[in-house]
Amino acid sequence: MTNLISKDQQTLSYNPQQWRQGYQSQPNEYDYFIEDIEGKVPEELQGTFFRNGPGLLEVQGTPLKHPFDGDGMICAVSFLPNGKVHFRNRFVRTEGYVQEQKEGRMIYRGVFGTEKPGGWINNLFDIKIKNIANTNVIYWGKKLLALWEAAEPYRLDPKTLETIGIDYLDGVLNPGDSISAHPRFDPASELDNGQPCLVNFSIKPGLSSKITIHEFASDGSLLRRHSHTVPGFSFIHDFAITPHYCLLLQNPVTFNPLPYILGLKGAGECVNFHPKKPSKLIIIPRNPSDEKMKVLEINSGFVFHHVNAFEKDNDIYLDSICYDSLPQVKPDTDYKETDFDTLDPGQIWRFKINLERETIEKEMIESRCCEFSDIHPNNVGRNYRYLFIGTAHKDKGNAPLQAILKLDLLTGEKQVHSFAPQGYVGEPIFVPQPDATNEDQGWILVVVYDGDKHRSDIVILDGENLEKEPIAILHLKHHIPYGLHGNWTSEVFL
Ligand code: CO
Repeated sequence: MTNLISKDQQTLSYNPQQWRQGYQSQPNEYDYFIEDIEGKVPEELQGTFFRNGPGLLEVQGTPLKHPFDGDGMICAVSFLPNGKVHFRNRFVRTEGYVQEQKEGRMIYRGVFGTEKPGGWINNLFDIKIKNIANTNVIYWGKKLLALWEAAEPYRLDPKTLETIGIDYLDGVLNPGDSISAHPRFDPASELDNGQPCLVNFSIKPGLSSKITIHEFASDGSLLRRHSHTVPGFSFIHDFAITPHYCLLLQNPVTFNPLPYILGLKGAGECVNFHPKKPSKLIIIPRNPSDEKMKVLEINSGFVFHHVNAFEKDNDIYLDSICYDSLPQVKPDTDYKETDFDTLDPGQIWRFKINLERETIEKEMIESRCCEFSDIHPNNVGRNYRYLFIGTAHKDKGNAPLQAILKLDLLTGEKQVHSFAPQGYVGEPIFVPQPDATNEDQGWILVVVYDGDKHRSDIVILDGENLEKEPIAILHLKHHIPYGLHGNWTSEVFL
């Protein structure tokens, strides 16, 4: 058994016992003004910070095999014009959540390995999927949508977080369709006279994979949609855009569904990563009447997330968080016993792609353990200078994310704001100041789990000077389990 407790606590930047507590369920739903605030919330910071992640780490007493199987819980932190800040959290009332809560038992297996009680016989041939709506939450086209990549979005009321129901994006999706949890927001789409647009993709995996690109106007209406087929099974969680291209990285994985169908393993455990094989970089023009899709081979390791992409001179640049090996959940291991030393850290690589010559050059731009990035929203798909990303406290090795790193891609200068030993960070969100003149002039919003107090804080950091004391720390009355992705909107909902 891998066991962190037996390790010399002095060498760790964190207490494993405390780290594990961040995976405790939060079954309660709260609704209150945050009163326990250190520092001062900036007056100009007005809007709503929405965030999604698993809220339950067990279903009616049966623990989950992987936190990614947890029912989606949305948090909304509303920054009001009068300087007050309101917190609310609600579970997405998905069909599966409602059914399991009502019946008081686990009804669904999880995609990442959670099995119903009763052994393989009770899981045999059970491939019905519970849409857990737990990965991201976006506000687009006047709709608040909880996203999970294997099914349809769920729509919520942005004021109350009440679940309205499955949303088919005004007929763009059909029942049973899916759309990724990682849309990209183009701040000024060239195809739409500089209007903002949302670009997303969906994948129908199989022996070959059908990739569909969807682009939506700010009123939610569909602008463009086109489909492309690539050979092989695809596990693609995220993508990147430039003004002219969508970039998707097809990791070198194969999928053997048999153990899943037989009830022996979760679908996620049936994905096998082949680190010696190259990935395929799929480059799809955003304008459907442009030249055809191109597929180039690339040695990137395993990629969940990209930071950004852009075009410069005649090249395309893609910045991605790459792992030498896939951090895989094995059937006999408990995620809470993760031995971080045995896992490869996520590291940021820059890929320089030349479409004419069909060449890719690569360069590591950050070796430190990283995950969950954000940049200035106006630079999505554009050349950019600053990135903000969750990182480990130490600059070497692998460990839980306890700090935020700011990387200046022009000078290479780094700033780190660490919350170690008791703090664990989620995805940082960059909110630009209203009349900013510099790219880093803004606030970093981040949920930090405080393992000492077993509660979470909403922390506001200064984007220009990340290392200085937080601008404000808003103490919640409770904890929020480690989350996934979220977004900021300048609209205030309460
Ligand atoms: Co993600």
